[in-house]
Formats: sequence, C-alpha cells, structure tokens
Amino acid sequence: MQRFTNPRDIYHGKGALEALKTLEGKRAVICVGGGSMKRFGFLQKAEDYLKEAGMEVKLIEGIESDPSVDTVMKGAKVMEEFRPDWIVAMGGGSPIDAAKAMWIKYEYPDITFEDMCKVFGLPQLRHKAKFCAVSSTSGTATEVTAFSIITDYDKGIKYPIADFEITPDVAIVDPELAETMPKKLVAHTGMDALTHAIEAYVSTAASDFTDGPAIHAIELIQANLIKSYNGDMDARDTMHSAQCLAGIAFSSGLLGIVHSMAHKTGAAFADYGAHIIHGAANAMYLPKVIAFNARDARAKQRYGVIADYMHIDGANDDEKIANLIRYIRGMNDELNIPHCIKNYGADSYPTEQGFVPEDVFLDRLHDIAANAILDACTGSNPRQPSQEDMEKVLKACYYDTEIDF
Ligand SMILES: NC(=O)c1ccc[n+]([C@@H]2O[C@H](COP(=O)([O-])OP(=O)(O)OC[C@H]3O[C@@H](n4cnc5c(N)ncnc54)[C@H](O)[C@@H]3O)[C@@H](O)[C@H]2O)c1
Ligand SMILES: [Zn+2]
Repeated sequence: MQRFTNPRDIYHGKGALEALKTLEGKRAVICVGGGSMKRFGFLQKAEDYLKEAGMEVKLIEGIESDPSVDTVMKGAKVMEEFRPDWIVAMGGGSPIDAAKAMWIKYEYPDITFEDMCKVFGLPQLRHKAKFCAVSSTSGTATEVTAFSIITDYDKGIKYPIADFEITPDVAIVDPELAETMPKKLVAHTGMDALTHAIEAYVSTAASDFTDGPAIHAIELIQANLIKSYNGDMDARDTMHSAQCLAGIAFSSGLLGIVHSMAHKTGAAFADYGAHIIHGAANAMYLPKVIAFNARDARAKQRYGVIADYMHIDGANDDEKIANLIRYIRGMNDELNIPHCIKNYGADSYPTEQGFVPEDVFLDRLHDIAANAILDACTGSNPRQPSQEDMEKVLKACYYDTEIDF
C-alpha cells in the first residue's frame, strides 16, 4: 500500500494570500524569516487578513536561513505561551520548515529533536493548532510537503523530519510573493525544484499519482526557469506553480541521493565560512547522480522518458541520458551555478578555487558519505550505493569528473 497526501486546500494564483481571511480560530502566530516579507509589505497584508478573520496575531520573526534546532525550540516556547490555533508560516523553505518543527514541539513539549527525526514516526498533530504555509520562493515546495529540514550546527548536518503529519492543512501559492526574489535565489530554488521532480520520477516510491505532477513540473521548469531568471515575470509566476507540482510529486514519491548528498554537504564546511546552498548543491550533483543511477534498468528507462518529454534527442536511452546530462549542465551555466564543489565560491558563483579546500574535503569525505547513506532520501534512490560508491560519487561532485561505475 502507498499513500498520496496533500494539503486539504491549495489556494493559488495572484492574490491567493487573501485566503488567510477564510481561516477560523482565535489566535494565529505568523512565522517569518529575515525581513523580505516585511520589506515587501506581505507580512502586513497577512496580519491584516488574519485580523479581519477575527484572530489575535503574534509574530515570530527573524528565522534564519537553514534554521537551527535552537531556533525551533525557542519558537515552540513562544507558541506554548501564546497558544495559537493557527500557525501561519510565510517565506522561503527556511521559516516554513522551522515553523513545522516548532509545531511538533508545541503539540508535544516533551518531544526531543531526535524523536522528531524518526522517519514517519511522529505522533498525531492538530490537537492544538492547524498549519498554513505561504511560500515566497519557487523551489522547496515545503508548503505542500511532509518534510522539514533542520540543521544541527554542533554536528554540521541537516536532518530531514519526514512525516505526513506535518503536511500543511492549507497551502497558499501566490506568485506575487515570488516576484521579488533576487536572481540568485531564482536560480537556486528553481534547480532545487527540477531536482525534486526528476528524483521523484525515478524514485522507487514513484507511482501513477506522483508521475503526473513530476513530469508536468519538469516540462514547466524547462520552459520557464531560465526566462524567470532573466526577468520574465510571467515565467516567474508559472515557476511558482511548477515547483509546487514538483513538491506534490516528491512529498509522496520521495527523493534520492542528490538530496542525501546536498543535506550532508550543505553545512559540512561552515567552518570555512560558507554553506553550499541547497539548490546549488542539487544543481551540481544532479548530473552525476543521473549517470550513477542510469545503471539501474528501470531508472535508465525513466530518464529516457524525461528526456522525451523535454524533447531531448537520442537514438536510445544511453544517448538521451548523455544529452539530458549535457542539457542540465547547460542550465547551470545559464544560471551561473558551478559544476562542482571545487569551483563553488563562498558567494555560490563559479570560481577557480572554491571555499572548500581539497584536503579538507578529502579528510571529511568518509564521514560525509556515511552520513549521506543514512539520510532519509537514500532509501528511495533507484540504486543503493555502498560506502565506496558514495565516496566515489561525492569525489566526482568535488572534481567534476565522469561517473563510470
Ligand atoms: N521541506 C522541504 O521539503 C524542503 C525541500 C527542499 C529544501 N528545503 C530546505 O529549505 C531551505 C531553503 O529554502 P529556500 O531555498 O526557500 O530559501 P530560504 O528560505 O533559506 O530563503 C533564502 C533567502 O531569501 C530571502 N527571500 C525569501 N523569499 C523572498 C522573496 N520573495 N523576495 C526576496 N527575498 C526572499 C529570505 O529572506 C532569505 O534571506 C533549506 O534549509 C533547505 O534544506 C526544504
Ligand atoms: Zn530540495
């Protein structure tokens, strides 16, 4: 038996933020990030709509990018005192993910972070509050997914919390919120969305229910991401729907080792002054993982189908896959994303010598590979990597070398 779970309501299209007026309750907390929602006036609008719905509103502001366990625990304390019956999370993946974890801790104050991370092991939520997510970036699709990514900075590891309990009750996918994204964010979140759709389509948990949204997301992203990056606002609006469709696909269809590696490398070199931004990590690793997974017959056939939908030529699946890899690398070039960690600058742009020194990478390789194998996304990857495989794929992602194993 498989399960296909989505929010009860997805409000989409320009002006969808107004749906906040329809929420019923006494108190709502709004969780936001570093200030973009406030700066562009969306926070005020959201507050006004909720007040119009008769609710008392409290703000939890300043949730950082790649939110920490500490931020989650502090936010949950605020919720325990204010006792909201709606949690409204607005912004990119970071504030929405943090709010999801705060929600768990608010419902179960004694739960530990380790318990939250037991895959599909959460107790039932919604005894105290329901959850509404309003996305402002076009990538993570956390507004519709069963996931939340929280970083443990002591260990330098991103942990996915995975359970349909944290699938939001209401998602608001209003493209107006995404129009203010700077170019770099468009690039990174867009490639994150493409990775979600491709990994979901080849995942061992894919089904007829997830294949449809995955393929349509891939088509829409191919047609719109570069245009959106270059300032076309109609394309930007379509990307907001496309990333959500990719989210619908991967929330139930799950992901693969592109994400396992992105989670485990993201904060692994934070002591050298930067993160490997989630979407950029995916964009660099995706071509390598396609080559690795294509040795599995079913995955190979499915990558061929993806290439067909993208109108990428090839006389057989091998040729189509080689061209698909070339195409994705071309997208990275157009989006100013490097091809490998070695060339990944602290500002995320391609550079001769990136911020991760070779000796440090090699020193940490064994542990990163071991952690990536244990990541929740590895289980649904078409090919199960050994420790040696994972180290070799990661090395190819560092040096930009070919995968021939
Ligand atoms: N839950 C999931 O299923 C899932 C999936 C993929 C990634 N993630 C996680 O999500 C996080 C990344 O999320 P993200 O890529 O959405 O970025 P983010 O939430 O970290 O935001 C990045 C920056 O963009 C700004 N910003 C957000 N929206 C904006 C807008 N419309 N205009 C201008 N600036 C804006 C923010 O203030 C912030 O400074 C990572 O922690 C990643 O691991 C979660
Ligand atoms: Zn992702």
